[in-house]
Amino acid sequence: MLAVHKAVFPVAGIDTRFLPATKASPKEMLPVIDKPLIQYAVEEAVAAGITELIFITGRGKRVIEDHFDKSYEVEHVLRARGLQNLAELVQSIKPPNVNCIYVRQAEPLGLGHAVLCAQKLIGDDPFAVVLADDLLEGQPPVLEQMVHIFSHYDSSVIGVEEFEADGACAHGVVGGRHWDERVINVSSIVEKPAPEKAPSCFGVAGRYVLMPAVFDHLRAQRPGPHGEIELTPAIHSMLEEEQVLAYEFIGKRYDCGTKLGYLQATVDFALRHNEVHDAFGAWLRKRVDGETAAPGTTH
Ligand code: UTP
Repeated sequence: MLAVHKAVFPVAGIDTRFLPATKASPKEMLPVIDKPLIQYAVEEAVAAGITELIFITGRGKRVIEDHFDKSYEVEHVLRARGLQNLAELVQSIKPPNVNCIYVRQAEPLGLGHAVLCAQKLIGDDPFAVVLADDLLEGQPPVLEQMVHIFSHYDSSVIGVEEFEADGACAHGVVGGRHWDERVINVSSIVEKPAPEKAPSCFGVAGRYVLMPAVFDHLRAQRPGPHGEIELTPAIHSMLEEEQVLAYEFIGKRYDCGTKLGYLQATVDFALRHNEVHDAFGAWLRKRVDGETAAPGTTH
C-alpha cells in the first residue's frame, strides 16, 4: 500500500481576481477571519499525514515563506509581554515534524508547469496537490479522506464536488462511471467546459493525489500559446495508461479564489468563531431583518 507524505502547494499564480489586494501580497495570504488561506490548506495536509510541504512560489510570494518560518522576534516580544498563548499560537504554525521547501517558478506558466517544478523533489513518490484558494471543510479533513481512497485503490484521486446542472464550472470537470456512491472511475477530464459540453456535474475541487507518472504527461504536453502547461490535459492523457478516480468528498468547499466564495467563507466561519459568533450572529440577524423590513435602507 502506497503512503502519501509529500504535497505540492502551487502559489505562484498572478491572482488577477483579487486585485488590487493581491498586487504586492499573495491571494493565499488573504485571511478568513484570522488565519490565511494557505494555513488552512497546510493544516488540512498535515492532518492527512503529509510531512513534506513543497511550495511553488513566484514573484511577491516571499511572505508565505516568512509565515511558515520561525519568528524569534515576534515570539520573544509576545512572551516578554506575558502573552504566552499567542506566542504558542505563532510557534505552532509549522509543526516540528513538518519540512517546508520552496521552489521558485520563474514565470507563471500555468498550474501544470508549477507542479512540474516539484518533480525533482517528488521523485517516484505519489503526492498531493493542494490549491489553497479552495478552502475545504470536512470531518475527517478532505485530503485525509482522499489519501484513504488513494491507499485503498492505489490509483490517482481527484477531489470533486457536484455543481448545479445548468451552471458553468470554473474548474475541470470529470466524466466517468460511478463505482460506488462517491467514487467515479474517470474516463475524461475537461478544463472549464461550456455547460452543454460538460461530461458530468462533478467539478474538480482543488485537491489531487497523483501518481508520479503525471510528470511524463506534463513533460509531453505541447505548451499553450503563451508557453503555459496545464494540469488537466496531463491527467486526461494519463487516463490512456492508468486508472484515475474522482472522489466526491464529504464536506463543503468555499471557492476563495472568487469574491463571492471568499465572502461566504468569511461569514460562515465568523458564525462559528469562538470570539465573535454571538456578536456577529446578532449583528447579521439584525441586518437581515432590517433589510427585509425596509428594502433599500443602509446602516
Ligand atoms: P488560478 O487559475 O486560480 O490563477 O491558479 P491565479 O493566478 O492564482 O488567480 P486568478 O484566477 O488570476 O485570480 C490555480 C492555482 O495554480 C497556481 C495558483 O497560485 C493557484 O493556486 N498557479 C497558477 C501557479 O502556481 N503558477 C501558475 O503559473 C499558475
